[in-house]
Amino acid sequence: MAEQKATNVTWHEHRVGNEERNQLNGHKGAVIWFTGLSACGKSTVANTVDHLLHQKGVHTYVLDGDNVRMGLNKNLGFSAEDRAENIRRIGEVASLFNNASILTLTAFISPYKEDRDNVRKLLGDGEFIEVYVNASLETCEARDPKGLYKKARAGEIKGFTGIDDPYEAPEKAELVLDADNKSIDDLAEEVVAYLEAKGYLKS
Ligand code: ADX
Repeated sequence: MAEQKATNVTWHEHRVGNEERNQLNGHKGAVIWFTGLSACGKSTVANTVDHLLHQKGVHTYVLDGDNVRMGLNKNLGFSAEDRAENIRRIGEVASLFNNASILTLTAFISPYKEDRDNVRKLLGDGEFIEVYVNASLETCEARDPKGLYKKARAGEIKGFTGIDDPYEAPEKAELVLDADNKSIDDLAEEVVAYLEAKGYLKS
């Protein structure tokens, strides 16, 4: 956990509260946290879910690894420490979106269980939905859309997740998606069905 450095700061209660925001939006916020190896399909599934929910009139937003690493987190690399900070910041941002009653979809490898569990703790009960996009290393490596696995195998990238850096699979994910065998559309439908069944799409 990051240390609180600033002193003399006071939490300010906002005048418009969660209830009012939920009512206006027609649903509560939640964070749908996609985790899995690079090229497992996290971003593509998250984007498809985003599109499906948007069509249903749900307020959504996608925070995704490569994009956030080109802005907010451009000063972070891929050491365990930097990955932890990456996930901590994303967790905090997702929590703000959640307070704004937005269904927030995040797509980060987030390889460490402890980092993901810290975000789970930060959000309230039922507000963190961990979705494990389970594709085998073989599948991801065969896809290799950015040629990064090839570079990692050749030793040109050090500390690449799944090759010479760990990935700790979730043990109690709310949803596990079989990304080796199912299409992106089917996986996205599974996520939407879960959200519908659990009442996330209505107030
Ligand atoms: S995380 O581990 O901190 O959660 P994140 O999801 O933000 O990672 O970024 C992963 C993306 O960065 C990958 O999809 C890939 O495009 C790129 N990348 C570059 N170097 C690495 C590396 N060493 N390990 C994993 N991904 C990397």
